Amino acid sequence: MRDTTDRRPQHPVRARLARVGAALAVLAGALVGVTTLSGAAAAATQGPCDLYAAGGTPCVAAHSTTRALYAGYGGPLYQVRRASDGATRNIGPLSTGGYADAAAQDAFCAGTSCVITVIYDQSGKGNHLTQAPAGGAAPGPDNLANATAAPVTVNGHAAYGVYIAPGTGYRNDHTSGIATGDQPEGMYAVLDGTHYDAGCCFDYGNAETSNTDTGNGHMEAVYFGSIKVWGSGTGNGPWVMADQENGLFSGLSTGYNANDPSVSHRFLTAMVKGAPNQWAIRAADAQTGSLSTYYSGARPNAAGYNPMHKEGAIILGIGGDNSDSSDGTFYEGVMTAGYPTDATENAVQANVAAAGYRTSAPAGAVAPGSRVSLQATTACCTSDYLRHDDADTKVVLSRITASSPATDKADASWIVHTGLANSACLSFESANSAGHYLRHFDFELYLDPNDGTSQFAQDATFCPGGGNSGKGYSFQSANYPDKYLRHYAYTGYLASFGGSNAWDATGLWNDDTSWLVDPSWG
Ligand code: AHR
Ligand code: AHR
Repeated sequence: MRDTTDRRPQHPVRARLARVGAALAVLAGALVGVTTLSGAAAAATQGPCDLYAAGGTPCVAAHSTTRALYAGYGGPLYQVRRASDGATRNIGPLSTGGYADAAAQDAFCAGTSCVITVIYDQSGKGNHLTQAPAGGAAPGPDNLANATAAPVTVNGHAAYGVYIAPGTGYRNDHTSGIATGDQPEGMYAVLDGTHYDAGCCFDYGNAETSNTDTGNGHMEAVYFGSIKVWGSGTGNGPWVMADQENGLFSGLSTGYNANDPSVSHRFLTAMVKGAPNQWAIRAADAQTGSLSTYYSGARPNAAGYNPMHKEGAIILGIGGDNSDSSDGTFYEGVMTAGYPTDATENAVQANVAAAGYRTSAPAGAVAPGSRVSLQATTACCTSDYLRHDDADTKVVLSRITASSPATDKADASWIVHTGLANSACLSFESANSAGHYLRHFDFELYLDPNDGTSQFAQDATFCPGGGNSGKGYSFQSANYPDKYLRHYAYTGYLASFGGSNAWDATGLWNDDTSWLVDPSWG
């Protein structure tokens, strides 16, 4: 056994917030049924944009990779491009007004990986989102999102969200019908409230047409994350704030505003709206319940925000000047012409709740207390399992069959525990080395004794979700949410989709990070 007490991480540890409460909400939320409306009926008869139109504030941009946002919309939702041959394919709803045809994406992307190239505007205004160009704060073009990194179900239908890792961004600088100057507008976005960071700036909304910071009041966008540079609310974040350029505002003043709480529902509805000397922040659990108003009142009491100087570009996942160091996940969102009433927004929130966003693989499916073996799904390796070595503490991939020696079978067997660092996630104890757990260190996988530290608990906690390839499960690191359990060159790693380590390679990433959970060999 290696000595685990005197090693020091050699990689700088990126600051990440513990997400215990957030992930607990996943479990609770996943079990809550929608009792007030039939999701199927609501989706078929009305979409959020039908509700905004009825309220006199029609959508002028409507983006979603999960569902149609008008009952009458049957066009493409988004476009994917696959790595193998560079071909693209539009993904539409299964039916007019319905849910995304994720199976079409799975078929098109089978055996390779795909990125999202276009998020179509359903409003008819042509305000599609595509790869963001370079801007004042960062070069470009930005990265495109891995098309399978944010699996979800919507009213029981598999779909994929837009997974924004740092460096990823979408934009449209040539829009039609989006508010400019001091014109009124509203917007909402449904996000993953557990996927965020303190980088600038995971935004969706109105920004500069020049990709540069042109001054206070030149933006009006929903922001979600935990950066404290400009504004903050109670707790440690994340917060819904309004990016009004050179300021993420949580209320009337720059800095702290006590009415803006930390919110981290697994599915989060985040809203911002603005009119002459008036703006508001509202949010809700996107699975249930009603909107709370965190701010509604006059423009920020700092120079340059009244009147506003909105320019009418649309951004997703970046700041106005293409600041691109933020994390987040986007499922759907719209922008309106006119300042929506609270009543209209409340109806939209009810529609979102009825749409039935759920995690695609509840943690309960891999039950604490069970004994499992984790089988690789990549074509190379479908008889191979994640196991620890006997010679050292490395965790590797090797072939296990019915005739394998008992020691090998036991080395590939794990006792599932409630996550050491997060009770909504899991930890894996070796079946033949009591008290020793699967953990990452320097982004490689090891079997080490639990030393009781919170660092160990974090390193040994993995959050299950639907497989990144659409098969089985993927296991997301509790302390590096961009990274998943992966095999690469028959060795166990913690890997992001693209990154500085060899094992972050994007080829086969989806397959290498997807595992079948089998009854244990030993
Ligand atoms: O307002 C916060 C950020 O500041 C904007 O998104 C960006 O354009 C500027 O760097
Ligand atoms: O781990 C076996 C294979 O090694 C992986 O599928 C691939 O990423 C690498 O070449």
